[in-house]
Amino acid sequence: MKKYLLIITIGVVVSATSLLINGCKATQEVAAKGGSELWSENCGRCHNAPNGSYYTREQWDVIGTHMRMRAHITADETRKIVDFLQSAK
Ligand code: HEC
Repeated sequence: MKKYLLIITIGVVVSATSLLINGCKATQEVAAKGGSELWSENCGRCHNAPNGSYYTREQWDVIGTHMRMRAHITADETRKIVDFLQSAK
């Protein structure tokens, strides 16, 4: 009986470790993504990309914060997306 417990414990530790390692990898991948990729993955499912020159810098800041909450993304990802949209004029 004790043997089974040991095997189960090892199994849990191994899967928890691999989850942790994969989690870190996923974070690094996000950091390497550019604005256009982040846009299509996070914002594009709800609407098309608006023209960058359609809004002012200040309006983009507000839109970024507002849409960040809808898309559930980080501030860093939002900045990359807004920079990308503003560069498309
Ligand atoms: C869950 C759906 C959803 C997601 C995800 C989303 N939006 Fe929106 N967005 C909307 C809706 C709905 C509106 C209409 C205005 C409102 O009610 O907020 C809007 C409005 C806008 C507008 C102004 C109106 C327009 O279409 O010109 C911009 C710009 C915009 N979103 C950009 C973004 C960006 C950038 C992201 C990604 C960070 C994003 N959105 C993610 C739903 C979404």
